[in-house]
Amino acid sequence: MSAYSVALTGFRASEDLEKLYKQIPDNFLRTRLAEEADRFDRFSIDACGLLLDYSRHLIDDTIHARLVSVAEEARLGDAIKNQLNGAIINGSEKRAVLHSALRSDLDKPVLVDGQDIKPAIKAMHEQMKSICEQIHSNSWTGYTGKPIRHIVNVGIGGSYLGLKVVTDALKPFHKEQITPHYVANIDPADITEILEPLNPDETLFIIASKTFTTLETLANANAARGWLLNHGLKESDLSKHLIAVSCNIQAATEFGVAEENILPLWDWVGGRYSLWSAIGLVIALTIGYDNFQKLLAGAGEMDEHFRTAPFAENMPVIMALLGLWYRHYGDAQSHAILSYDHGLRNLPNHLQQVDMESNGKRTQHNGEEVVSVTGPIIWGGTGTNDQHAYMQLLHQGTCNIPVDFIMPATSHTPVKDQHAWLFTNGLAQANALANGRSLEEVKQELADAGKDEADIARLATHKVIPGNRPSSILFCDSLTPKTLGALLAMYEQKVFVQGVIWNINSFDQWGVELGKQLGKQLFPMMEDGDLSQLDSASRNIIERFRKANA
Ligand code: F6P
Repeated sequence: MSAYSVALTGFRASEDLEKLYKQIPDNFLRTRLAEEADRFDRFSIDACGLLLDYSRHLIDDTIHARLVSVAEEARLGDAIKNQLNGAIINGSEKRAVLHSALRSDLDKPVLVDGQDIKPAIKAMHEQMKSICEQIHSNSWTGYTGKPIRHIVNVGIGGSYLGLKVVTDALKPFHKEQITPHYVANIDPADITEILEPLNPDETLFIIASKTFTTLETLANANAARGWLLNHGLKESDLSKHLIAVSCNIQAATEFGVAEENILPLWDWVGGRYSLWSAIGLVIALTIGYDNFQKLLAGAGEMDEHFRTAPFAENMPVIMALLGLWYRHYGDAQSHAILSYDHGLRNLPNHLQQVDMESNGKRTQHNGEEVVSVTGPIIWGGTGTNDQHAYMQLLHQGTCNIPVDFIMPATSHTPVKDQHAWLFTNGLAQANALANGRSLEEVKQELADAGKDEADIARLATHKVIPGNRPSSILFCDSLTPKTLGALLAMYEQKVFVQGVIWNINSFDQWGVELGKQLGKQLFPMMEDGDLSQLDSASRNIIERFRKANA
C-alpha cells in the first residue's frame, strides 16, 4: 500500500474537488458534449499558434473554478515570477532556473548573482551562428577538404532526447546537405550502428554534455575520437571534427576539443531544459540558424503567454490542473501523449524525461516528505499505430489514462488524402474515449446487422465502451519551428506548475545518482576479483556474466 494520499491535500478546494469528482455521472461527457453548444468556446485556449481543446474533460465551470483556485492558493503567480526572474528556485542545488532566458528578448536583462546573463547568451548565439554559416557555406571542411555532411550528436538524457524530437519533427526544414545522427547509449551497438555508414572526412561530432562527466557520453566520445584516429586523422586534424558544448570547459579541453570549438553552458540551464541552449547546436546545423531562432521565438511566446494570461485561460496552467484533477481524484497513474504526426514519434521519450525526472519526487522543498502522490508515468506513441496496439486498454481497460492528442492540421509531405485520414482517426479516438458506446446502442447495432437474440446476448457486453474518458486535443495549423517551440515550452511550464502545487523541486534529479554510483562500484568486479562481499543475487549474476565473457 502506498503511504501517500491520493487526494490533493492541504488546499481549501481539496474536499470540494473530491466530492465533485465523485458526483460526475457515467455519461457526463456524452451529455455535456451533445448539449452544451458553447462547450468548445468555454474549454479551449488559442495561444502561440496552438489550440488546446479541453472540452472532452470531466469538468464544468464549478470544477474549472475550483481547480484554478488551487493554482491561486499555491501562489503560482509568485512562483512564475520567481522562475522567470532568476530566483534560486532549485533549492537543493542552489541554482536559478533560467532556460526561459535563452528564448526571451535578448535586450531585456536577467540577473544571476547580480550579473546580466544576456550578453553571454548573445555571444553564445554568435558562436552558434558562425559555426552554422561555416558548415553551411562549406568553408568548414573535414580533414581532407570535403564539406561536412553528417553531424553526430554524442549526448544522453537532456543532451539528446529533445534534440532528436526537434530534428525529427522538423524534417521538412532540414538543410539538404546535412544529416543529423545521435549516439546516446553506452551500448556499443548504438555507436557501431551509427558510425558504420559514415565517412570520417565528412563527419562532425558534437559532444553535448552539461557536466562532461557523464559515463555514457564520455565512453562514446572516446569511441568517436578513436574512430577518427583509426581512419588516419592526426591529432591536429581533430579540431575539424570535434565540437563540445559544456559547462565544464576544462574537461572538454582536456578531452582534446580545441578551445575555440567549445560552446558554453551554464548551471542555470537544467539538462532536460537545455535544447534551447548551445546544446541545440545539432538543431541549428540541421534546420538552419534562422529556423533555430524561430524555435526559440515560439518557446519565448509561450513563456510570455504563461507569464501574462489569467490562470483560467493559461495553457500550461490548465494542462497542469487537468493533470492534477485525474492524478488526485480520478486514480490516474499515467498520462499518454499520442501524436498524430510521424515527426513527433519520439516526443513521449523527451516528455518522459521532462516530466518524470522533474516531478518524480517525494521530498518537499523544506526536506519533509510529500503527503500526496506526485508525478504520473508519462508514456505514449503515434497515431494511428497506437490504435492497433494499446488503445484497446484505454477504451475498455480498467485504468483511467488521460490522453493528449497532438494533431497538426496539415502534413509537410502530403500523399493523397492520407493526412486527412490520420487527423480524422485522432479525432475519432478522442470522441470514442469521451462518448463510448452504450449497451442499448450495441444491441441496436447488432440487431441492425441481422444478429439473432442469442448472438446479441453473447456479444453485447463485450462491445460496450464505457466512455467518459478524458482527453485534450493540441492542434496547430502546421508543425513549424515556431509551433514546435511553443508546444515544447508549454509542456515544460506545465510540469513546473505541477511541481509548484506539489511543493517539490522540479529541477534536481538526485534519484538517478544512486544507480550511477553502484554501477561504478560493480564495474571493476565484472572481470575478476572477490565477490564474497556481495549478496547472492548480485554474485550469481556476475559469475554468469564472467562465464559468458570468458
Ligand atoms: O542522469 C541524468 C542526467 O543528469 C540528466 O539530467 C541529464 O540530462 C543527463 O544526465 C546528461 O547529463 P550531461 O549533459 O551532463 O551529460
